[in-house]
Amino acid sequence: FYRGDILYIPGCAPTLSPDEPEPTWECITYEMQAEEAQYTSGSVDNNFDGYTGDGFVNTGNSSGEWIEWSIEVADTCNAATCMFRYACKSEDRPMELRVNGSIITTLDFPATGEWFTWETETFDINLTAGSNEIRLTATGENGAPNMDKVDINICGCEIVTPAPMPDPTEDPFE
Ligand code: GCU
Ligand code: CA
Repeated sequence: FYRGDILYIPGCAPTLSPDEPEPTWECITYEMQAEEAQYTSGSVDNNFDGYTGDGFVNTGNSSGEWIEWSIEVADTCNAATCMFRYACKSEDRPMELRVNGSIITTLDFPATGEWFTWETETFDINLTAGSNEIRLTATGENGAPNMDKVDINICGCEIVTPAPMPDPTEDPFE
C-alpha cells in the first residue's frame, strides 16, 4: 500500500511578533503520484521527460476516464490546496474534480504545448475527517491529459493515511 511522500515541511507560519505565542499549526505539502492512484484504463508511461516518481499515467482518450487519489485526515481540513501536475501537447482536456463523490468544479487543463512540458492546475478543496477520495474525470472526447501527480498543501491538520514520513531532522532515539 502506497504511503505517499512528504515533499517538504515549510512550516508556513505567519510572521511572528515577539509578544505573540508561537502558532501551533504548520503546513505540509503532501505528494501523491498518479501511478500509485487508481485509474480507469491506460498505462504508466515514462517516454516523456520531466515527470516525478516512476512515470505518469496515460489514460484512454475518451470522456469519462478518471484518476482517483485517496487521503485520510484526522479532522475536517478546509482549504487543502490541490496542485495537479500534468502535460497535454495540443488541446485543453477539461476534467471534473470530485471530492467524495460530489462535483466541486471543472478544471480546464489547458494545453502545455509539448508532452514533456508540465504545468499545474490548482484548486482548494475541503477534506472531511476520515478517508477522502479526490477524483478527476475527463469530460471531453480527448480524455485526460498525461497526469504526473497531485501535491496537497494542508495547514493545521493531521494526515492519518498515508502516514506522513517522519521528519528526517529529528533523532528517533531521543
Ligand atoms: C500520445 C502521447 C501520449 C498521450 C496521448 C494522448 O500518444 O504519446 O503520452 O497520452 O498522445 O493524446 O492522450
Ligand atoms: Ca492519453
